Amino acid sequence: MNLLKMDDLTNHEINELLNQAQSFKEEKQKVNLNGLVGALLFYEPSTRTKLSFEMACHKLGIKLLSFSKETSSVSKGESLYDTVKTIEALGADFIVIRHPEKRYFEQLTDLNIPIINGGDGTGEHPTQSLLDLMTIKESFNQFDQLQVAICGDIKHSRVAKSNAYALSRLGANIRLVAKEKWQDEQLPFPYIDMDQAALDSDVLMLLRVQKERHGGVSYDQQSYLEQFGLTIKREQMMKDNSIIMHPAPVNRGVEIDSSLVESPRSKIFEQMNNGVFIRQAIITNCLQKGGAFHENSDSECQ
Ligand code: CP
Repeated sequence: MNLLKMDDLTNHEINELLNQAQSFKEEKQKVNLNGLVGALLFYEPSTRTKLSFEMACHKLGIKLLSFSKETSSVSKGESLYDTVKTIEALGADFIVIRHPEKRYFEQLTDLNIPIINGGDGTGEHPTQSLLDLMTIKESFNQFDQLQVAICGDIKHSRVAKSNAYALSRLGANIRLVAKEKWQDEQLPFPYIDMDQAALDSDVLMLLRVQKERHGGVSYDQQSYLEQFGLTIKREQMMKDNSIIMHPAPVNRGVEIDSSLVESPRSKIFEQMNNGVFIRQAIITNCLQKGGAFHENSDSECQ
């Protein structure tokens, strides 16, 4: 079965994955998938997602095929479909794909190999969303009624979309912060200013400014921090138990004052740590026939 977008999961399935990831983290559960082989196809750069899938595979006993866009036949023009079909023919058991094209997976529906989406352009990033949910649950033990502000380059962020919809249906109250040209009016959530977000949020979720998707148009980094970033002054306005999140990589001094990245209320490195356990849980479920993920009539779950 596949995990392509957060809508592939019911709320119950999300909670099951979070519980399983927590039991991996607390070493209450061990799963041995020795003998299975995976492939990580990253057509866009990655540190956290790729390496935490590698770490998760190490922990599960799964071996990985090596692949790079630059040294593979992708550089000779081979299509995504033919590349995935080849990896399926070689006998791999699952593939993780990150690709710049939104909903790239719609061209792969004829294939039988399980696919885990490691990020599709400005579309979705479901495995990041699940590790974010795990981190929030660790802090608050619930989603219902939580005040969540998602702040930054909303328009180009796949993390914003996966998290906004998933957290909303889990009961959180979602507000967005973005400069006008980085707002996404298709998202059905209100925009507020950064001072209000700092003042009343339980979760202040910052996003990376995605320069690579701006078509060469620049912005003023210093005024961005003052208007839309988390400054020291705004951090001091936050409620006692509120947390700071960021999917990283962080543009220090742009989305957040550099000194706050490792501050007591920052969960940024805890998010990365949780990424390993959530990906162990996702792989385990994707490889189990009849596992946790349901089959949506309009999804590619198999
Ligand atoms: N958060 C995230 O997806 O980071 P990488 O781009 O480094 O994988």
